[in-house]
Amino acid sequence: MKLWDNAFDTTASALAEEFNRSISFDKRLYTYDIAGTLAHVKMLKKQHIIPEDEADEILFALNELLSDIQSGEVIIDESYEDIHSYVELYLTEKIGDSAKKMHTGRSRNDQVALDMRLFVIQETRRLKSGLDELITAMIAKASDATEDIMPAFTHLRKAQPTTFAHYICAYIEMFLRDLKRIAAIEEDCLEAMPLGSGACCGNTYDIDREYVAELLGFSDVTHNSIDGVSDRDYMLDMLYALSMMMMHISRYCEELILFTSEQYAFFTIGNAFCSGSSMMPQKKNPDMAELLRGKTGRVYGALIQMLTTMKAQPLSYNKDMQEDKEFFFDAIDTANKCLKIFTAMFESVTLNKETAYRAARDSYITAVDAADYLVKKGLPFRDAYKKAAGLVNYCIDNNKYFHELTAEELHQAGGFDKKLLKAITVEHSIKQRRQTGGPAPEAVKKSLAHYKAQLNKILSQN
Ligand code: ARG
Repeated sequence: MKLWDNAFDTTASALAEEFNRSISFDKRLYTYDIAGTLAHVKMLKKQHIIPEDEADEILFALNELLSDIQSGEVIIDESYEDIHSYVELYLTEKIGDSAKKMHTGRSRNDQVALDMRLFVIQETRRLKSGLDELITAMIAKASDATEDIMPAFTHLRKAQPTTFAHYICAYIEMFLRDLKRIAAIEEDCLEAMPLGSGACCGNTYDIDREYVAELLGFSDVTHNSIDGVSDRDYMLDMLYALSMMMMHISRYCEELILFTSEQYAFFTIGNAFCSGSSMMPQKKNPDMAELLRGKTGRVYGALIQMLTTMKAQPLSYNKDMQEDKEFFFDAIDTANKCLKIFTAMFESVTLNKETAYRAARDSYITAVDAADYLVKKGLPFRDAYKKAAGLVNYCIDNNKYFHELTAEELHQAGGFDKKLLKAITVEHSIKQRRQTGGPAPEAVKKSLAHYKAQLNKILSQN
């Protein structure tokens, strides 16, 4: 049974019918589809477009269907074309002719546009709470690690000393940006209730779109009916935001894989998030981190798929758009799952303090501090840089790290006074870097307070 038995012979081949069908994946929209229909029918009733008693009958049956599906009493029948057809035809079978009025002044084009917006709004809220959990865990771990020294890298070469807290803060920044992006998508979606766009050019009834928007919690309606049914930008925004979030997760995972390896051993991942090898008894593999890195590609794939699906479609609705769902759902589900496991795995990560500290100390990671010391004594930076380079060369030639130098050797290496020794310890180097955003413990504490405030501010909107 189809909704669109019309003036033509609509006997489709079984093959075409199967090909056309989307219910196997759009059935998950049933709560949004029913919520949208409830609002639409309430509006039709208020505007006297359909009789009050019939509207009430539809509303009652819709609510009943919703709770029956939720309780498992009713299983969505997948022989229908899509979720929209199913709801209308199920109700028609149940309450008869009144149900045939529920689609007055509506098209499946604006209906599906509404369903997807409601779905995206709901998902932004789920992601916001997932990111809140992650960022809160990161702030907590960083708060305990403002004095724990480790190297920071550029080009994957030891560059300057930092702390575990300062390092974690870099990721807090990324995930706060993700949170902002997702909150902005929620905000955008809430401003654009598309129902009433009809198939593409509205309808001839005296409908009240603002009322429908209000019932559904939107702050405004869409202002062009053609765009109303053909816009999928908000889904692309979401896929981009998810891709970005996955990219951040993946970068951290990449570092976990690297820095938990025997070669670095800065961090340890909790055993619960590692696997063994079927052959090599000594192995503890970072499988979760690798899987998270791997799943990032899957989410990027959805973004590219959607961009490609949209790129050559003429206005307004085309059936191509039915292809907006499967990859999108998969990307959302994947990202949510990844966020959850990533948060749990992050919480299990510990810093191997001694190893990380030695990795910072046993290097020439404070060479620029040596130059800065000389600059503060009046030398131009470039000259000081050259003298510091001389000190590094002396150490390499004599197989020493900075902290192993004696006052005599300092003198020999370029006439340095022994106060330099203190200036080039990793502890001193970090302490001096007090500017906002720097690694000094007091600077990191300020950043952490800033992040907490940011987090609360973003989460209190909407
Ligand atoms: N299943 C369709 C989709 O997801 C619903 C809209 C169908 N509209 C139409 N005119 N055939 O896009």
